[in-house]
Amino acid sequence: MRLARGLAGVGSAVIVLASTLALLGPAAHAQSAGEWASGAQLWSDTCRYCHDGKIAPELRGAGLSAQAIASAVRHGPGAMPAFAPSVIGDEDLEQLAEWIHAQPKPAPPQTDESERTPRHQTRQRMR
Ligand code: HEC
Repeated sequence: MRLARGLAGVGSAVIVLASTLALLGPAAHAQSAGEWASGAQLWSDTCRYCHDGKIAPELRGAGLSAQAIASAVRHGPGAMPAFAPSVIGDEDLEQLAEWIHAQPKPAPPQTDESERTPRHQTRQRMR
């Protein structure tokens, strides 16, 4: 009987520990915000892949507010995946959105056919 009670105690200690860790999890991650050195870095690592004007619209120089950009990243309009705060922290997102917003329109994309990735290949890589 005593043993059973002891075990029940251990059990609840484990539950308390687990829920503490669950609470610490996201906070610990948020502290590592600033994983990307800059908005430009985050853009080329995460967004440019689609947003080079071929798969998805060019965002630089598109006149979008930083607010609209940040909102799109969190919600994922249309075919775009949403990025949770655990993937792109709030601080990084703010930096990224400000950076995109401040960019001038880039030079028109190459129209040389050999530069283009065939659409079906791109689709597969997106999964
Ligand atoms: C897997 C491809 C993909 C990636 C990666 C991606 N996007 Fe998108 N994004 C899209 C597509 C496709 C659309 C168009 C959605 C629609 O309107 O149907 C879009 C739309 C948007 C829009 C709205 C554009 C407008 O004219 O209203 C914004 C803003 C945006 N993306 C920002 C970002 C940012 C910032 C990143 C990087 C964190 C990013 N996206 C990463 C595919 C992507």
